[in-house]
Amino acid sequence: MGFRKDFLWGGATAANQCEGAYNVGGRGLANVDVCPHGPDRFPVMLGKKHITEIDSEHNFPALEAIDFYHHYKEDIKLFAEMGFKTFRLSIAWSRIFPLGDEETPNEEGLQFYEDVFRECHKYGIEPLVTITHFDCPMHLIKKYGGWKNHKMIDFYKNLVTVLFTRYKGLVKYWLTFNEINMILHLPFMGAGLMFEEGEDETYAKYISAHHELVASALATKIAHEIDPNNMIGCMVAAGEYYPYCAMPEDVWDAKCKERENLMFIDVQARGYYPNYALKEFERLGIELDMSEEEEKLLRENTVDFISFSYYSSRCTTTRTDVEGSTGNAFKGTKNPYLKSSEWGWQIDPLGLRITMNTLYDRYQKPLFIVENGLGAKDVLVNGTVEDDYRIDYLRQHIKAMKDAVELDGVDLLGYTPWGCIDLVSASTGEMSKRYGFIYVDKDDNGEGTLKRYKKKSFYWYKDVIASNGENL
Ligand code: BG6
Repeated sequence: MGFRKDFLWGGATAANQCEGAYNVGGRGLANVDVCPHGPDRFPVMLGKKHITEIDSEHNFPALEAIDFYHHYKEDIKLFAEMGFKTFRLSIAWSRIFPLGDEETPNEEGLQFYEDVFRECHKYGIEPLVTITHFDCPMHLIKKYGGWKNHKMIDFYKNLVTVLFTRYKGLVKYWLTFNEINMILHLPFMGAGLMFEEGEDETYAKYISAHHELVASALATKIAHEIDPNNMIGCMVAAGEYYPYCAMPEDVWDAKCKERENLMFIDVQARGYYPNYALKEFERLGIELDMSEEEEKLLRENTVDFISFSYYSSRCTTTRTDVEGSTGNAFKGTKNPYLKSSEWGWQIDPLGLRITMNTLYDRYQKPLFIVENGLGAKDVLVNGTVEDDYRIDYLRQHIKAMKDAVELDGVDLLGYTPWGCIDLVSASTGEMSKRYGFIYVDKDDNGEGTLKRYKKKSFYWYKDVIASNGENL
C-alpha cells in the first residue's frame, strides 16, 4: 500500500520566477518580464495597464529572479541531495524563439535547457517540463495581440516541434500550459492579453483560451508522433469550490464556479467542450468558430494525465453579508472553518483529498500534483531557517494525498511542491513570500548575495522521499 514504487517526488519552479538572465544568450523580452513589483503589478497582470518595455521607474523582479540560469548546477545538486526523482521547470519561450515568429530557433537557448536536463539525469532526476508557464514573447503580443490571435497556434506548434525533437529521450513528462484557467483571472500574465478601453474582455479571454486548447491538443499530437513514450499533461489551478452554506443557491453557485475551471480539463481530457460551456458561450454571444479539423484534433488528442496546483479550497456564496478571502488570483468567500496563511490563503489539507477525488472520478486518468505549498516569511538564523510551519503544512497535505491514494484508490503519479527553492512570487512579485526547502538570500528590493541555505524542511523532505512518504 502507500504511494507507487516509482512515485515521482520532487519540486516545482517556473522559468520567469527563477531563471533571471532575461537578456542573456539571445533571449527575447516576454510578458512575464514586464510585470513589476509594487502597485502597478496587478493592473499590468490584468491587462489594464500596459507596460511593454523595461523602464527605470519600476522594479521588475523576473529580470534577475534567483539567477537559476547561472546557478542551476548548484541548485540541481541540492535537489539531488534531497533525493528528488523529478524536477519541474519551465521553458522560457523567448529563449528558444526570442521574437516568437522566427523560423529558426535560438541555439543558445536550446543548449541551455539541454544542459539543465543532462544535469538532472546525472542524478537520476526526471525533468517535468512546462512548455509555457505564463510566458509569451513580447513581440507576439505587440504584433499579433497574443493568444487572441489564431496565428498563435502556429507559433506554439513551431515551439513544441523544436522542443519535442531536440529533447527526445531527455524529457518524457510535459505540461502544455501552466494553470490554463489563469487566463480568466490574470489575462496579461497568463496569456499576454492587453485590453483596450471598451473591449469585450470576456470574449477575448474565451477565444484566447480556445486557441490555447487547440494548441495544447496539437502539442499532444506532435509529442506522441515524435515519441510515443512522451506523457502529456494538462495543468489547472485547482481547489474544490465549497458552498458557503447549504442554501441551494450557494450549492449551485459553487457548481458554476467549479465548471469555469473544469471546462478546461473537460476539453483537454475528454476531447470536446461540455454542453454547459457551449450554452454559456451562447448566452455570452461567443462564437468559437471552430473548424471540423480543430474539433477532430481536440477529440483525438486528449492528455495522458491530469496535473494541477492546489494551495487551498475555495468557498463561494450568493449572500452579500459575508467576508471575502484571497487565494491565488481567485477571490472568494472566507471559509470560517479554515485558518489562513500570512497572505490570506486558506489552509485546507482535506480539500486536497476532496479535489483529487473530484478530478479522478470525473476523468479516470492519473493525477499529478505539480504545485502545493505554503508561502511564508522566513528568518535566516545561523545559516538556516526553522520552518516548522512549512513542514506542518506539507505534512498535512501529504497525509491527505496519501488518504486519497490508499483509501480512495486515486492513481497519483507524483508530487512536486511549489518553489522547492525560494523564488519570486507570481501574484505579488515578492521574494519574501517563500515556499522553498532552500533559502535564497535576496529581498523584495532585489538586494542580497543569492547564496543558498538549507532550511529545516530540507532535511524533513529528504526523509519523506527516502521513506516514500512513510516518515512524515
Ligand atoms: C501558481 C503558479 O498560481 O501559484 C505559480 O503556477 C505561483 O507560478 C504559485 O508562484 C504560488 O503563487 P504565489 O503568488 O504565492 O507565487
